[in-house]
Amino acid sequence: MRTDSFRGKDYMTLRDWDKEQVETMLDVAFDLKRRFALREPHDHLLRAQTLFMIFYNQSLRTRNTFEAGMTQLGGHAHFLDPSKIYTPALEGKEIAYITERVSDVARVLSRTGDGIAIRCYGDPVDWEYGGAHEMMQEFARWSDIPIINMECDKYHPCQALADVMTVKEKFGTFKGTKFVMSWAYSPSVHKPRAVPQSVIIAASLMGCETVLAHPPEMELDPEIIAACEANAKMNRTTFSVTNDFESAFEGAHVVYPKAWAATSIFPPPVGENDPDKTLEIFNKYKNWKMTSELMETADQEAIYMHCLPADRGFEVNNDVMDRTDVKSGWRSAIFDEAENRLHAHKAIMTLLMGGK
Ligand code: CP
Repeated sequence: MRTDSFRGKDYMTLRDWDKEQVETMLDVAFDLKRRFALREPHDHLLRAQTLFMIFYNQSLRTRNTFEAGMTQLGGHAHFLDPSKIYTPALEGKEIAYITERVSDVARVLSRTGDGIAIRCYGDPVDWEYGGAHEMMQEFARWSDIPIINMECDKYHPCQALADVMTVKEKFGTFKGTKFVMSWAYSPSVHKPRAVPQSVIIAASLMGCETVLAHPPEMELDPEIIAACEANAKMNRTTFSVTNDFESAFEGAHVVYPKAWAATSIFPPPVGENDPDKTLEIFNKYKNWKMTSELMETADQEAIYMHCLPADRGFEVNNDVMDRTDVKSGWRSAIFDEAENRLHAHKAIMTLLMGGK
C-alpha cells in the first residue's frame, strides 16, 4: 500500500495514479464506509476545512455526496453556481463583468479554502471536446490547493473510483472479472464521454478483463483506448473492443450499458458539429437496450451497473434496474454504486486535503 504522494495533489483522472495508489484510495474508502455504517465519528479528518464546488452542470449524486462527505469529515462544502459568481473563463473567452479569468478565480479561492472541485462539460464549452478538461488544467495550474475533477468532457474519475470500489465489494477481486462497458440507446444525443472513458481506464488499471462495446459511430478517444491497452498489458489481462452488443455480455460479471455522444456531435476537428446527423445515428441503434433476457446471458452472479441517472425504458428496462434485492442470481447494484460515491469521495478528499 502506498501512503505517500497524495497530500496536496490534484485528482483529474485515474491516468495520473498507479494501481497501488488506487488500491490505497479503495482501502481508505472501505475504512470510511465501515465507520459510516457504525456511525463512528470521523469528523476530525477535515475539521474546519472548506471545499469549493463549482458546478457548470446539473448533479444529484456528485453534489450531495461531496457535500454530505465534507460534513461527515468535519468540514464544509461550499456550492458555487458559475452564473452567480463571475463565471470562470479562460483567457480569450472573457466577457466584461460576466466572467472572471480562471487564473484569478483559482488564486482567490486558494487563499480562502482547502480544495476546489469542478464539474464542467458540454454547453459551457460549446461541446468542444477537451475544452472543459483544458479549463480544469488551467485551474490546477494556478491553484495552490487540490483540484478535484467532478466530471469534465474527458474524465469522471470520481465515478470511476466508486465503480471499481463496487466491483471489489461484490467480487472480492478484479482478476478474472469480466467488465463490459457498453453504449446503450438514449433519446438524448448530448451525453459526454467522461463516464465510459474513465470506467474503462479504471477497470483495466485494476486488472479486470475489460470489454468495450459500441456501434462504429460511437468510438471513444483513441488516446484513452491506447491507455487501456497499456493497462491490460501491464496486468497480463485483456482489453477488447467490439461492435456486437449482444455477444459482448456473454459470461460478463459486470454489465454497464449507458449512452454517450457519437463523434459527429463534437465540433471539428474531432467531429462535425451535427446534432441532426447524430440523432439519425442514434435512432439506428434503438435495440441497444439492457433487458432481463440479455442479463441471463451474463454470469449467473452478474451485476448491472450504471452511473445514474439512467434513461429508463431506453438504455435499460425497469425490471433490470429494480432487481436490487435478490439473494442469488444476477442483480442490479446501482444503489450500492451510488452510495459508494460518498465513501470514494471522502477517501479522495481525506487523502488530498487531510493531515494539515
Ligand atoms: N453519476 C453522476 O455523476 O451523477 P450526478 O450527475 O447526479 O452527479
